[in-house]
Amino acid sequence: MTDLTQQKNEALTAIAAAASLEALDEQRVAALGKKGWVSLALKTLGGMSPEERQEAAPAIQSVRAEIAGAIEGKKAELEAAELEAKLASETLDLTLPAPLQAKGSVHPVSQVMDELAEIFADLGFEVATGPEIEDDWHNFTALNMDESHPARAMHDTFYFPDAAPDGGQMLLRTHTSPVQIRTMKAVSENSPGGAPIRLIAPGRVYRSDSDATHTPMFHQVEGLVIDRDIHLGHLKWTLETFLKAFFERDDIVLRLRPSYFPFTEPSVEVDVGYSNEEGRRVVGGSGDDAGHDWMELLGSGMVNARVLQMGGFDPGEWQGFAWGLGVDRLAMLKYGMNDLRAFFDGDPRWLAHYGFAAVDQPTLSAGVGAGA
Ligand code: DAH
Repeated sequence: MTDLTQQKNEALTAIAAAASLEALDEQRVAALGKKGWVSLALKTLGGMSPEERQEAAPAIQSVRAEIAGAIEGKKAELEAAELEAKLASETLDLTLPAPLQAKGSVHPVSQVMDELAEIFADLGFEVATGPEIEDDWHNFTALNMDESHPARAMHDTFYFPDAAPDGGQMLLRTHTSPVQIRTMKAVSENSPGGAPIRLIAPGRVYRSDSDATHTPMFHQVEGLVIDRDIHLGHLKWTLETFLKAFFERDDIVLRLRPSYFPFTEPSVEVDVGYSNEEGRRVVGGSGDDAGHDWMELLGSGMVNARVLQMGGFDPGEWQGFAWGLGVDRLAMLKYGMNDLRAFFDGDPRWLAHYGFAAVDQPTLSAGVGAGA
């Protein structure tokens, strides 16, 4: 029994002195492990007489409990010390801003459409929309292209097999111009006092065409103004004001070339350039002498009297101008991409490089292309 007391005292001293959880565990194995001295002492109970055992068993059990309790206590102490040391060595500055983990980005086409809406809103234009699945009356006939019109063939139209309600064909709109018709009709039929009209209609259009500068789906923005006493000068001022705001420079100059569109008369094609000290240069172009000093940008003109009539407006009273412009092309010019196909590949690397942060809303006061 004295042996046991001595062993116990030695063990308690060693446990109290253990400097680490590992050292403490060695003590646990030495005492309570399978071959530990407490376990061996317990085994001796089997060879004892009942009287001896009655006396020895509680003594051994109490030694065992005392050792186990000491180990438990020391373990908690060592773990607390370890946590204390860890807390003291590791710091976390809770006043730091959360790391910006923006997922996704705004596509340049969406960005440019937002820029257009912002610029034209300032000029009093509303954004109008129309269906991408159109009927051929809105897409062609009402725009002065009847069934036999050769311009229809140039549009590489995707047709649907089903007939339109009026018996004509359904198709994927080949341009945003049918929005002109839909808006004019809505105004002339439902709210005759709704004119003047000032709208832009950005959106997807479709043509069966594909190479580096053509994709079967692309984007246009249509513009339409209907008012009294409207002339080409208003068209030129509007486009010039828009392009200066869009490209964020004042030295933009326009060239209007006579052209032909069935829905405008007269029709003009608008080229854009800008001049600097070295002479006339083109936005995004090389500025050399090889005829590249003007960039053909958009089609426009005075709304054809027949189109006004189709839209329910009396051409004797109302005039208007319209234009149609490629949004993807505008984005390419402003933000320097050269392959249109990459716009629609959905490659995350391209999107990360050319995309815009969602928080980066274009505003006129901050510059519509801020953060580009
Ligand atoms: N709709 C024409 C196209 O897709 C573009 C266009 C030209 C629209 C002249 C117009 C316009 O409104 O006046 O090619």
